[in-house]
Amino acid sequence: MTQVSADIRQRVEALRAALDDHNYHYYVLDDPRIPDAEYDRLFRELQSLEAEYPELVSDESPTRRVGSTAETSFQEVIHRLPMLSLDNAFSDDELREFDRRVRDRLSTDEPIEYVCEPKLDGLAVSLHYEQGVLIRAATRGDGYAGEDITANIRTIPSVPLKLRGSNIPELVEVRGEVYMPKAGFEKLNARLATQGEKTFVNPRNAAAGSLRQKKSTVTAKRPLELCAYSMAVTDESLLPETHWDSLQTVREWGFRINPEMRKAQGADACLDAYNELMQKRESLPYEIDGIVFKVNRIDLQQQLGFVSRAPRWAIAHKFPAQEELTVIEDVEFQVGRTGAVTPVARLKPVFVGGVTVSNATLHNMDEVRRLDVHIGDTVFIRRAGDVIPQVVKVVVEKRPQDAADVAMPTHCPVCDSDIVQIEGEAVARCSGGLYCPAQRKEAIRHYASRKALDIEGLGDKLIDVLVDDGMVKTVADLYRLTKFQLSSLERMGDKSASNLIAAIDRSRNPVLWRFIYALGIREVGEATAKGLASYFGSLEAISQASDEALQEVPDVGPIVAGHVRSFFDQPHNQETLEALKDAGVVWQQEQVTDRGARPLAGQTWVLTGTLSQMTRDQAKEMLEALGAKVAGSVSKKTACVVAGEAAGSKLAKAEQLGLPVLDEAGLRALLDEHGLTV
Ligand code: IVH
Repeated sequence: MTQVSADIRQRVEALRAALDDHNYHYYVLDDPRIPDAEYDRLFRELQSLEAEYPELVSDESPTRRVGSTAETSFQEVIHRLPMLSLDNAFSDDELREFDRRVRDRLSTDEPIEYVCEPKLDGLAVSLHYEQGVLIRAATRGDGYAGEDITANIRTIPSVPLKLRGSNIPELVEVRGEVYMPKAGFEKLNARLATQGEKTFVNPRNAAAGSLRQKKSTVTAKRPLELCAYSMAVTDESLLPETHWDSLQTVREWGFRINPEMRKAQGADACLDAYNELMQKRESLPYEIDGIVFKVNRIDLQQQLGFVSRAPRWAIAHKFPAQEELTVIEDVEFQVGRTGAVTPVARLKPVFVGGVTVSNATLHNMDEVRRLDVHIGDTVFIRRAGDVIPQVVKVVVEKRPQDAADVAMPTHCPVCDSDIVQIEGEAVARCSGGLYCPAQRKEAIRHYASRKALDIEGLGDKLIDVLVDDGMVKTVADLYRLTKFQLSSLERMGDKSASNLIAAIDRSRNPVLWRFIYALGIREVGEATAKGLASYFGSLEAISQASDEALQEVPDVGPIVAGHVRSFFDQPHNQETLEALKDAGVVWQQEQVTDRGARPLAGQTWVLTGTLSQMTRDQAKEMLEALGAKVAGSVSKKTACVVAGEAAGSKLAKAEQLGLPVLDEAGLRALLDEHGLTV
């Protein structure tokens, strides 16, 4: 065995003390003193020294929080002192009654001092320290017996493995709540989702699930924290006079206590604390489900004692629940102003997060599938703060026999245009952009916007009025507005009416790209509109172009091409374009750039077999110069197959599909015709 020098021993001790100290500043004082990178360096130095000198390894070392892959069996632990629960006050009156009872029992009319603590939404744990060293951690269980979770608890960075300071009683028990901060919960769920694993409904379940892991290495990767809320010592003479002071002591030992904690004299002050904490609820980095009031003086606590399983000196005042169960009675589809079709669950009304909720968005069909939602299902609804209500989980066990699948409609429930879902997009959309009443206002706003047809004076508010009054249904109706109609509107003088009519008039003759942009086709911005205009030259050409032809335009990929196609495929959109023409809107044709030289634009060709007068690469290059795409396999969309010598299966397939086939001579003739020679 190597002799470990005193220097090394000292360095190891110094590193452990430094790391413990940094942890304490970080988790307990919320005041980190060194950057994470520096912490990591010290950590690694300690790790490598411990690896080199195994005799220095100690259970209290901060490196020992990584957990172990050995499976825990969660042995039963009998609590030395039962872990009680709390009575609840459900209203201000019940809280006042509680305070009244306390004062009656203590025969006093003086206001009682209470400690007000956030009620963290996690799991209660009990931690035992012997000579300042963590020896056992247990869950609450039924209050009398819990489970040994020492291995998992040790992985939580805010749990001291060794207590700080001097004057530490021989035996102490500290109790507190293990919880998962909101940010960590979101990250964990995102990670689980990308790994295709089940996500957790809320941070509380995530904390419980993480603590119940058989392998503590898994727990070590979960963002858990501990907040202490009470201490117990065998020798009661060691207890401070107040609960407040006992928590300060616990803090000095190295535990995190809740920074929102405060004292209040009497019931009114407690209710103020309740209301203030409720205001803060959303902005706290962790979830709380209420506030706990505890009589501060320990001697008074002892006088009050316990009744059945709860202390008489404490009570929890709950906040409105943020999760409830209800039933999905139907799923309907809503069309947003940009055409997005969203499944919305119609719920049996339920009181959650302080309001009655009867609808919850299901976002899109991916989400419906992820949640496995059926009509008739019982679901968890969650509404936290101002966030819109969410369906977080289906209770599959409660699914009725006649539960129905949720299917995306094929036609828009508002305007009956086709609903399309472009591959690669989660959202399905109504393709009747110019016509659909749900999209009307947005379509007109976009059409009139500065970068589109720039109709001065046609602002959002006026559009609202025109549409709501039924004067304008589609953009074509703008051109039929009369000065008389306009000046009858509230706050619209003669002059503004004339100005608006003139501005609408000026938009009758747009350049093609602006007009294309103004149509508001999904994902067709200015640059794409310009590209389409200069490539095709006319709206008619664009509206007839195939998917492949559209993709010849720079920056147009399958998704944009899909949106353009589905827009022009809708009869209602075509009707609106006709109506625009009838109203005297004439979009200018555009000079076509470089298309004359691309006679094969939009076509896919396939080369097979051996060519004698040119290489395949040369042939490919020339076909591409004429605008073709050259693909490796034959399908019914292939425009033509060039078959050289010894062409095999591709030629056979082309013949089977009845596709045009050129031999090498035919190809040369074609190239010749367009001035290309080898
Ligand atoms: S004191 C005898 N303080 O609430 C008093 N409990 O319903 C026992 N809890 O199981 C608990 N925050 O999990 C106390 N500041 C707090 C708390 C708190 C959360 C939980 C704890 C307990 C449950 C009681």
